[in-house]
Amino acid sequence: METKWIQLDTLTPAQYELALREAAVLLQNGELVAFPTETVYGLGGNALDPAAASKIYAVKGRPVDNPLIVHVSHIDMVEPLVTTMTPLFRRLAYEFWPGPLTMILPKSETVPSATTGGLATVALRMPAHPVALDMIDKANLPVAAPSANLSGKPSTTRGDHVYHDLQGKIPLLLDGGAAEVGLESTIVDLSGRQPAILRPGKITFEELKPLIPTLSEPALMPAAERPLAPGMKYRHYAPAGAVRLLPRDEREWRNLADVMARGEGPLAVIATAETCQRLHNQLTPDLLLAVGTEGDLDSVGHRLFDALRSCDAQAMRLIYIEEFTECGFGAALMNRIRKALSHH
Ligand code: TXA
Ligand code: MG
Repeated sequence: METKWIQLDTLTPAQYELALREAAVLLQNGELVAFPTETVYGLGGNALDPAAASKIYAVKGRPVDNPLIVHVSHIDMVEPLVTTMTPLFRRLAYEFWPGPLTMILPKSETVPSATTGGLATVALRMPAHPVALDMIDKANLPVAAPSANLSGKPSTTRGDHVYHDLQGKIPLLLDGGAAEVGLESTIVDLSGRQPAILRPGKITFEELKPLIPTLSEPALMPAAERPLAPGMKYRHYAPAGAVRLLPRDEREWRNLADVMARGEGPLAVIATAETCQRLHNQLTPDLLLAVGTEGDLDSVGHRLFDALRSCDAQAMRLIYIEEFTECGFGAALMNRIRKALSHH
């Protein structure tokens, strides 16, 4: 199959309209479309069609017990998909939708179990991206979409990442440029007695806590009791090279020079501009990738997955990533970095 890769920013309004209609018709016909969201790219299919869900699992090489997130463009689309829209769900949707928050509720019979990996619950999100919202509107369907990467690889945050992973496997890629957030949405489980964050993201614990007084801080819970989204048990975001944390203590950076001297490289470092500057005085790694700045962790999230993919593209065998403090958005950053580590 040939993958049509459409750069949306080069189109006239009329051509844009045609491209979005083409995407909508493909979705209505049970085909898959890769599309931009504000977090990462999604690999979309009709959430109500079990055959489309199976295609998504096959294209990604994803374990079938790992459920998909269902995307909507209007809150009314949620009603038929769940048993009840609880007051807390409505409150959080009012506050954070469209946006990088996914909420889990008990599913209705309308949602096929192929979409939810056999679970009795469904994950729901309204993305804050004009292309995603327009496409879902035009298809007039809830759209199941995991991140548009091969299973295990870093999520895709640019059109060329998607093309690299999925070319020849899907009919259409809508390229809307670099994703703004760069990390996947925060997932909150509202289906049980105790609301819980299953995956940290751009909407932080600190932002959710005032609206959900019973929410407990994931980092403070014993590891064994920490609830997990089924997908989080799999190794993730893994480049081909071995990933390690860059020591916080600068005196240990000298050891990296030894590692290079022993020929264990090529060695890459992914760090903020400030850390890169300090490192540069002591060490010249084969690849030094500055991602964002210390004072702005959002700028680090925006570039992190792209940096991991660059390390692969340049055949780095060792990748050292800066460690961040796990509060606010730092919790999401460290969650993804830890999942990429080689020994954990
Ligand atoms: O930002 C995002 O959320 C992106 C964009 C495309 O919207 N999507 C995304 O999907 O990251 P995916 O499939 O890569 O990650 C979905 C995660 C998985 O860890 C999965 O296990 C979890 O959500 N999940 C989905 N449905 C669930 C459910 N019913 N109960 C618990 N976890 C669920
Ligand atoms: Mg994913």
